[in-house]
Amino acid sequence: MTALPMVTLPGGERVPALGQGTWRMGENRRRAAEEAAAVRLGIELGMTLIDTAEMYGSGGAEEMVAHAAEGVRDDLFIVSKVYPHNASRAGVVAACERSLKRVRTDRIDLYLLHWRGSIALSETIEGFERLKREGKIRYHGVSNFDRSDMAQWVALSGGEGVAADQVLYNLSHRGPEWDLLPWCRERGVAVMAYTPLGQGGMLRHQTLAEIARRRRATSAQIALAWLLRQAGTIVIPKAAHPEHVRENRGALDIALTEDDLEALDRTFPPPKDKGASGIL
Ligand SMILES: NC(=O)c1ccc[n+]([C@@H]2O[C@H](COP(=O)([O-])OP(=O)(O)OC[C@H]3O[C@@H](n4cnc5c(N)ncnc54)[C@H](OP(=O)(O)O)[C@@H]3O)[C@@H](O)[C@H]2O)c1
Repeated sequence: MTALPMVTLPGGERVPALGQGTWRMGENRRRAAEEAAAVRLGIELGMTLIDTAEMYGSGGAEEMVAHAAEGVRDDLFIVSKVYPHNASRAGVVAACERSLKRVRTDRIDLYLLHWRGSIALSETIEGFERLKREGKIRYHGVSNFDRSDMAQWVALSGGEGVAADQVLYNLSHRGPEWDLLPWCRERGVAVMAYTPLGQGGMLRHQTLAEIARRRRATSAQIALAWLLRQAGTIVIPKAAHPEHVRENRGALDIALTEDDLEALDRTFPPPKDKGASGIL
């Protein structure tokens, strides 16, 4: 099995470039054990970065992560997110404390503002800074921020410590390549590519199927390999089925050729202008 490539966060810590998402998990108690087993399998295969949020399953996904993490918490890098409406100076602290209880841990490794809401960014940063001082989070970050949001964030006191921006980024949504990726790369801010498989829909595309056939792989593996070849990008597919988990891990064994990349560029062209940043 190919070793997991790592992404270096500002400050030097290295985290796996391939992690696991948890949206739509923890919504149904009857499925929670199976979902936790799938995430645990991913952990055993080295995908130890787990992305969750207070929003997912109304806290159920964080509880599912607690099950998956039993006995191996210290090997994991857990990412969670605060709702924008909870992101006031005091609200962010209270929301984080609720998340800590659900995940049954004493710290969240990376805590993100889920998207930009109406609360002043400076308040959210103050809350994040307090959480850091208290050891309840290790790094802070944002999600669904475009380049201009990022510029505003880092201009605020404490905002310069931002570790990551989690955005919609896959073959069908290449908007971040226009100016966000170069901006993040220049500053060493990690980009987390969410919905890397287009929630499954993208995988039926003929070009992906053809390349997959050539590489003796699957369309999902090609879509992930395309994202994983980029430095500084963390990819977080969600998979509740164990065969999907194994397959996604296998994406690291695939080396796309120049021909493959050209074919993908023709079918899924890079952005020609800034466009609107996508959000799910
Ligand atoms: N920050 C944000 O605003 C935001 C927004 C969206 C997502 N996210 C994060 O990003 C994660 C991933 O995005 P996502 O859940 O939207 O979509 P995704 O990872 O692109 O796709 C998930 C879907 O693809 C299926 N799948 C997984 N591996 C597969 C494979 N090898 N072959 C075929 N199908 C496969 C899954 O099926 P099974 O589950 O049945 O295996 C599931 O239906 C989320 O879970 C969440 O953690 C963040």
